[in-house]
Amino acid sequence: MTKRLLRVLNGERLDPPPLWLMRQAGRYLPEYRATRAKAGGFLDLCMNPALAAEVTLQPLRRYGFDAAILFSDILVLPWAMGQGLTYGEGEGPRLPPIRDAAGLATLRLDRVAERTAPVREAVRLIARELGDAALIGFAGAPFTVACYMVDGRGGDFHETRVLAFRDPGFLVALIDLLTKGTIATLTGQIEAGAEAVMLFDTWAGLLPPSLFAAHVVAPAKRITAALRAHFPGVPVIGFPRLAGASLAAYARQTGVQAVGMDTQTDPATLPPDLVVQGNLDPLALLTGGEALEREVTAVRRSVGNRPHIFNLGHGILKETPPENVARLVELVRVP
Ligand code: CP3
Repeated sequence: MTKRLLRVLNGERLDPPPLWLMRQAGRYLPEYRATRAKAGGFLDLCMNPALAAEVTLQPLRRYGFDAAILFSDILVLPWAMGQGLTYGEGEGPRLPPIRDAAGLATLRLDRVAERTAPVREAVRLIARELGDAALIGFAGAPFTVACYMVDGRGGDFHETRVLAFRDPGFLVALIDLLTKGTIATLTGQIEAGAEAVMLFDTWAGLLPPSLFAAHVVAPAKRITAALRAHFPGVPVIGFPRLAGASLAAYARQTGVQAVGMDTQTDPATLPPDLVVQGNLDPLALLTGGEALEREVTAVRRSVGNRPHIFNLGHGILKETPPENVARLVELVRVP
């Protein structure tokens, strides 16, 4: 029997919808914090196949979600290409910025396969323990990964956005390199056992429409086409966050099988047959109680008759009480 998540990604509508949460393995769970402490740092956790598999499976044991998402990070790719990367306690990722051709020349795709071997080993370990849940692999979309590589940290990504105008050739070259690296990364995850993949373009909405086509739509289209050529049965979920009115065009032009809707998206603005994922406000989940009940109902009404995968509109917040997640599962599973 085909897994529920994969049936919906193939266009079927299920009631109740399959359910998983972005960042479902993470700091809101005490068992995650314990395993992370055992691993050392965050990157050590990502590169330890047994522990990465363990934290991937923790939220499934607790909540019986319909999907596991590989525990890793979108910045593993630049790290594997040779850029420095640290995650400070409570301050997010830091990378030595790359802003010119000389910096670009230090990046190497040929070492990525070897340095990411532990990630594929984690995928193989997870795949053995899944039961009825589907395994989602993922990568950052090239523009969002470029934002961290160029600015060197999270924020408003001023440096990346200025470079897009001041030195357009540089950003085009970086995104081209990342597109190739992303295809290789996702190919490796699929060969190891990922049954669907998701492309996280968290900062897509920072670009003006004139650059959105080149830096968001075109790379997603290339990645989707390359994967489809080799793995026609493995769906791609695109998540160009804050794309607003451009989301419908993204869905049409890239060829992705489904789109992740951010918290702000009204599904009524999307084609009626598009497979959609989302988009409960993470703050409603954090709040719980009647607000959570009302918002779950609102999301389910808003998607109408579209094939729908229930999720958040962005990652779960670390202050979220685990019992609110248990309540969400109950609410979503009421037919
Ligand atoms: O969803 C999952 O459970 C799978 C694992 C996953 C992580 N990061 C683990 C993680 C996924 C899919 C990501 C994607 C990711 N990473 C994105 C895109 C999605 C999004 O949330 O917008 C981005 C922009 C990153 C880069 C990144 N990694 C940032 C900005 C941070 C710091 C933010 C924070 O919450 O501290 C990370 C660290 C990170 N990646 C954590 C986790 C669980 C927290 C690390 C910790 O344990 O301290």
